[in-house]
Amino acid sequence: MAQGLRTVVLTGAAGRIGTAITPLLPADWQVHRTDLRTADGIDALDVTDGAACRRAFEGADAVVHLAGVPDPSADWPALLPANVVGAHQVAQAAVDAGVRRLVLASSVQAVAARPEGRQARVTDAPRPQNLYGVTKAWAESLGAWIGAATDVSVVALRIGYFHESRPDEATADRERTAWLSPRDAAELVRAAVTADGFDFVVAHGISANRYRAVDLHDTMQAIGYHPVDDAWQSR
Ligand SMILES: NC(=O)c1ccc[n+]([C@@H]2O[C@H](COP(=O)([O-])OP(=O)(O)OC[C@H]3O[C@@H](n4cnc5c(N)ncnc54)[C@H](O)[C@@H]3O)[C@@H](O)[C@H]2O)c1
Repeated sequence: MAQGLRTVVLTGAAGRIGTAITPLLPADWQVHRTDLRTADGIDALDVTDGAACRRAFEGADAVVHLAGVPDPSADWPALLPANVVGAHQVAQAAVDAGVRRLVLASSVQAVAARPEGRQARVTDAPRPQNLYGVTKAWAESLGAWIGAATDVSVVALRIGYFHESRPDEATADRERTAWLSPRDAAELVRAAVTADGFDFVVAHGISANRYRAVDLHDTMQAIGYHPVDDAWQSR
């Protein structure tokens, strides 16, 4: 997508990641924040309502779909509406509204069952360890299909362990090696919205941690993501 003014719809904008990144997104973007929970500056949008999604996406350049239930121990009834039905409604509405870029929040949980100690690559097929990870694998498959079959190009972000502050030594390695800081989360979304030259890509969403649960090289190449934070060092 060409640089410059963009209209970007965020779903799940009242959540932790949406709240943290909103003030850090490019100043020349027009950001329309939506969520099931309304708040100051956030409009009501239930992502399971396809017609409402379509109305909300009309005229937008990109949709960044963050809405969901981010719980690795959640059961099917809890996950089905937002993570499965909602992802589909958002993707279909993005196509119907003529949006050019759809960014889907996947998770490193989609590849959590890879062999012990092995750094995940973006080319790895999903290997979830829980039903939440399966719903993220669904979102990635959905994105691959939409990217291949429509004019909407899709980035699926395998987000790591988002946390507002740098994890300390007491934090479990599996979280520390996957830390995503707020400013890197905003940079990730900037890159995912503006990158060019593909129908569908999977990208890894962690900071520039010294020790990494997942590879960043391919993501930096594919979408021009430039993280700056490191869970092992403050800057
Ligand atoms: N936080 C993390 O470390 C992490 C890691 C990997 C992936 N993710 C993914 O990133 C996204 C955002 O995560 P978060 O930590 O901000 O989660 P969050 O729970 O803080 O925010 C999710 C938001 O989605 C909204 N939502 C739920 N159902 C909805 C519906 N039907 N319609 C509209 N909005 C709805 C909630 O109201 C909430 O504000 C999620 O999809 C999550 O699975 C998060």
